Amino acid sequence: MKYLFLNQKMNLTNSEVLEYKEKFPKTSSDNLEIVVFPSSINIKTLGNSSITLGSQNVSEFIKGSYTGETSAEQLASYNIKYALVGHSERRKYFKETNEIIKEKIKRLHEQEIVPVLCIGEESKEDRKETLKQQLEQSLGGLEIDKLIIAYEPVYSIGTGILLENNEIEDAINYIKEVVNSILNKNIPVLYGGSVDEKTIKILKNITNIDGFLVGKASLDIEKVKILEEVLK
Ligand code: PGA
Repeated sequence: MKYLFLNQKMNLTNSEVLEYKEKFPKTSSDNLEIVVFPSSINIKTLGNSSITLGSQNVSEFIKGSYTGETSAEQLASYNIKYALVGHSERRKYFKETNEIIKEKIKRLHEQEIVPVLCIGEESKEDRKETLKQQLEQSLGGLEIDKLIIAYEPVYSIGTGILLENNEIEDAINYIKEVVNSILNKNIPVLYGGSVDEKTIKILKNITNIDGFLVGKASLDIEKVKILEEVLK
């Protein structure tokens, strides 16, 4: 099974998301799971359709007086199957720490939503050290059965800077090894950062990759169709 995860970030107005829904490819494949991660206000608009939905975020709290937040229980009640946690933009702009991320993973696990833990280094030199620390601090001691990791080098997000395929392959092997040592499980690892309708043709040759997390290119339905075509 391969994954194509589409992170719309803080984009698309009501009319734009309606158009997106209308044009979204209706094909489905047993080998490719396509999931749209809309801005939370657009979740309901994209619901009740063949589109599988994910959330870009979740609260670390269970329920109650946390203005502006959305709980894992609320997400589950809208049929959300996956949720991103620890995206580098959340770490940077909203000061999300590995400890907070761990709480979010717990909340998702309680609601049987698959956490998609985003990790990645800020500079190539710190790659292994950063990945190990992020994984240990956000997963250590947890007992969870479902998890997906998205490996996104921070300097590749939205910049057009791509690593060589063999560097990505090595990083993915390393992540799988570290997660296995913490959770005793083999988990899927996706790659993200400047994946689009052109770079996918190179990236798809990486043998140990389980799929892709796409930002900017996910907003363009024609690009989404090409990504789907290449991966299915
Ligand atoms: P990008 O974003 O595809 O625009 O580089 C990826 C991400 O942030 O998940």
